[in-house]
Amino acid sequence: MSKVLFVDACARGWEVSRTYAVAEAFMNAYRAQHPRDEIEELTLAGLGLTYFTGKELEYRDALLARGGQADDYFKLARQFAAADKIVIAAPYWDLSFPALLKVYIERVSVSGITFSPEPDGRLRGLCRGEKMLLITTSGGDFTHEDLSLYGTALSYLRGICAMFGVDGFDYLWTHGLDIVGNDPEAILRGAKKQAAAFAESW
Ligand SMILES: Cc1cc2nc3c(=O)[nH]c(=O)nc-3n(C[C@H](O)[C@H](O)[C@H](O)COP(=O)(O)O)c2cc1C
Repeated sequence: MSKVLFVDACARGWEVSRTYAVAEAFMNAYRAQHPRDEIEELTLAGLGLTYFTGKELEYRDALLARGGQADDYFKLARQFAAADKIVIAAPYWDLSFPALLKVYIERVSVSGITFSPEPDGRLRGLCRGEKMLLITTSGGDFTHEDLSLYGTALSYLRGICAMFGVDGFDYLWTHGLDIVGNDPEAILRGAKKQAAAFAESW
């Protein structure tokens, strides 16, 4: 049995999000294929997450300095660290993803929970994670673009996996939903099918 954390970073709301629709097709197929897995869904838009201010960082650091890793304040980080598989649904915004997801990553990036600084200056990942999957959709078509420029979400999340000790990273990227002349409904139908097929072996 695996613990799966499904992180919904679809900032426009899951009710209208095409990215969420693809992720939902993935999760439904995953559930059917892995009935014994424990799946937790986290809707970031409902959590009231805010970016760190100096004052809050002082509070956080003081809590960590007195060994407060078990405090409720760090529950998102502990949940992330305990997951065997992490699925992130996030639309493609401005070369990456909504700030909502960045704020979440900052909240789970906690020394002593998701990573640990080593005496030699390197970071050691503390997460159980076997793998992470990013499900995204974009208005444009980046199929033939240089992903070192246009795929910064991929390189960033790969780096986060390396830092936190999550072993593998995969992504499903649906392109071209906002290109005039394209048929977004048909593209989405294909994407959902592909996501459901991918779920069977993931
Ligand atoms: C704030 C914002 C920024 C976006 N930036 C890009 C972009 O840089 N490139 C692109 O191709 N599409 C961009 N889009 C379009 C979305 O990627 C596209 O509509 C996507 O399918 C939206 O997913 P959703 O329905 O899950 O919200 C952007 C949309 C928004 C709202």
